[in-house]
Amino acid sequence: MKPLVVGNWKMHGTQHEAVALAREVLKGLRGRRRVDVVLAPPFTALGPVRKTLRGSALRLAGQNVHWEEQGAFTGEISAKMLRELGCHFAIVGHSERRRLFNETDQTVAKKLAACLRSGLRPILCVGETLEQRNAGATRRVITRQLRIALKGMTKDAIEKIEIAYEPVWAIGTGRNATPEQASRAHATIRRMLKKLFGTKRAEQTRILYGGSVRADNAGELACAREVNGLLVGGASLKAKDFLSIIGNFS
Ligand code: PGA
Repeated sequence: MKPLVVGNWKMHGTQHEAVALAREVLKGLRGRRRVDVVLAPPFTALGPVRKTLRGSALRLAGQNVHWEEQGAFTGEISAKMLRELGCHFAIVGHSERRRLFNETDQTVAKKLAACLRSGLRPILCVGETLEQRNAGATRRVITRQLRIALKGMTKDAIEKIEIAYEPVWAIGTGRNATPEQASRAHATIRRMLKKLFGTKRAEQTRILYGGSVRADNAGELACAREVNGLLVGGASLKAKDFLSIIGNFS
């Protein structure tokens, strides 16, 4: 399976800065075809970055999406609008959205379904907090998040979904999961996917690790068992670091 590396720029970058960063990444990537690379700039920069990436294999993602196609939802953006801006992917259920903007497993499920209806590939984020990990609840939390998000999906829907394991305690903290911790959580996710969608499809689903991935730890995370790619926040804002992270897969 082809690995996937996603750069989540969060709320960083004017249009000008975003285009400059996208250009640098594009330049550094020339010729690398063994890894899929996706950039998730802020909404305001999607249009300009799209122009920069035109004709390349790099793809765009929205960082969030609403579940309705249109309507009185001030400040929200629909899957159809993201498609129009050239997005192929959308991050769904990021822990910052869950924690700071009150997203629930139920709204995450609706967003996932909306993406699939519009032809966007959702990158579904799951992961436990430090309290949950310390209480030995990691497996329970992850399986609950998956079960609710994926409820009622047809068997082939999973072919259009990427999963990201992002332990909340590792995001933006500088404290990444060890390769063993990542592998164990990914194996839990894979087991759950097998139960829901069958072995073959589950084995073809990409499960990314995210949380304090840096140029100096990406190598061991990239080759950890069950890890099929990385979701990178802070380190994706520096082209050199991001390219070095991608380099572990190509
Ligand atoms: P980080 O963020 O790499 O800055 O920890 C990861 C993420 O939020 O996806």
